[in-house]
Amino acid sequence: MAKKSVLARLDRAVDDFSRRTRYFREELTKGRARMFALQHRLNTRQRNSVLKLKVATNCPDWETRLGIIRACSQEVIADHEHGGGRAHWEILEDLGVRIGIPREKIRAAQPLPSTQLAWAAWEGLMANRHWLEGIVANTCAERANVPGYGTGIMKKHGWFGLERQRWGKLFKLGDDELEFFELHEAADIAHSDAGWGAVERFAKQLHMEDEVVAACERNLAVWEMYLNGIGEAGDRLASR
Ligand SMILES: [Fe+2]
Repeated sequence: MAKKSVLARLDRAVDDFSRRTRYFREELTKGRARMFALQHRLNTRQRNSVLKLKVATNCPDWETRLGIIRACSQEVIADHEHGGGRAHWEILEDLGVRIGIPREKIRAAQPLPSTQLAWAAWEGLMANRHWLEGIVANTCAERANVPGYGTGIMKKHGWFGLERQRWGKLFKLGDDELEFFELHEAADIAHSDAGWGAVERFAKQLHMEDEVVAACERNLAVWEMYLNGIGEAGDRLASR
């Protein structure tokens, strides 16, 4: 029997992640949403100013390397294409203020132990790894923003499509107020198709099909732990 294509195996890993992660399956509460804003603002800064740049450094393909740096710059410096010149963490900070967290509190937030564990794990999966495994690490969670994985609203509109709907309902926010999620739906579909295509091409060329699939599974296991950590801490926040 012919072996399944590497893209089909990667898609399978993202689909599993989308179906099993408690944070997606369980109801969003105000506590969880607030904890997401606090932690994910920090996480997006760490990933895009430290972790993904390590992958860029290791990447020998010039176009791919520049593509990573360009995407990181939109995340941490300024996104003129989708974000009106603001960095994505700034847009998330504004969303945090909109759902009732004082800006000083957002800026003083510290990473949870689970978030710190995720960063340490990603460091191991992104810094001292073959660059192609690093590219998978850079893109596998964004891939869940593309429709088609998981079930229900997530399958229809992607992860951030699901967040946009449930945040909108919970906090009575309109689409323009939920721009953090909306901009990623457009940006990530574009980024992700290019990334996924490149992974397929290079995995074949370098005979690394099994390695990229394993990298995808491991990175998504860390994402699952990170998100469930936010859920648990959000529940504690709400009950205090
Ligand atoms: Fe972003």
